[in-house]
Amino acid sequence: MNDNVQSTAPVLEAQGLCRRFGALVATDNVSLKLYPGEIHALIGPNGAGKSTLIHLLSGVLRADAGSLHVAGTDVSNMNAHERVRAGLSRSYQITNIFKSMSVLDNLVLAVQAHAGSSFGFWHARRNEAALYDAARALARECSIDDTLLGRTASTLPHGEQRKIEFALALAANPKVLLLDEPMAGMGPDETVRLTGLIESMRGRAAMLLVEHDMQAVFQLADRISVLVYGKVIATGTPQEIRNSPEVRQAYLGDDDDPPTESERREAEQAT
Ligand SMILES: Nc1ncnc2c1ncn2[C@@H]1O[C@H](COP(=O)(O)OP(=O)(O)O)[C@@H](O)[C@H]1O
Ligand SMILES: [Mg+2]
Repeated sequence: MNDNVQSTAPVLEAQGLCRRFGALVATDNVSLKLYPGEIHALIGPNGAGKSTLIHLLSGVLRADAGSLHVAGTDVSNMNAHERVRAGLSRSYQITNIFKSMSVLDNLVLAVQAHAGSSFGFWHARRNEAALYDAARALARECSIDDTLLGRTASTLPHGEQRKIEFALALAANPKVLLLDEPMAGMGPDETVRLTGLIESMRGRAAMLLVEHDMQAVFQLADRISVLVYGKVIATGTPQEIRNSPEVRQAYLGDDDDPPTESERREAEQAT
């Protein structure tokens, strides 16, 4: 992402978000901006507060303090459903799929749910064909093969079900899409395919991607924010994050690319 993009207004702006669980500060004054078209990765060790932050953004959890704007609208006091209407969607886990229904019917329901009055009940018959067309277009966009559309959703492999989750989230035409560990439980081949799918959705919505697979993160992200103990300790381009001694010191999750001796000394001197 270039400076030009960053000079436009952010599509998501979190300011000073805080959340405690008893004495534990899970989210510690987090501020974060996403720009239109950006894929922004959120990384950090287990328990850093990544999922909590996603829940604060989606409205599943209430923040103790702070504000959130989506496309200029203050959504701080909105519940999760209202936030979806304001343009903020998240890719749910597989439980959101109606497993006993066909893949196509899942997509049709999602399109219908978000289409508003244009596919209203009283026009159901007239609009049925249009609904199915929209659902098929969504399937194509998410690389769900035509031959799978008639299958019962529960019979699909894990990776294909993950694509349906994306499709269900995209049906809301979000401005911002929150993805919490989309590669979790995927095999290496499925991870590569899903990375390609996320790449192909670039520009459809700004994305906040929580992901442990560093290869996928560094391949996809325009910018990366690093969360440690509930605090954003760094935000930058993949290159900046890779080269940051603070990040390396606080979060040595970069197993396949360990710090060099000089970088380690640099990190030690920084303390
Ligand atoms: N509902 C909850 N009640 C109490 N503690 C929680 C709750 N959810 C998360 N936590 C705690 O908050 C911290 C951050 O958790 P989480 O956001 O799940 O981290 P991450 O997704 O980065 O692994 C952890 O210490 C976790 O145990
Ligand atoms: Mg998590």
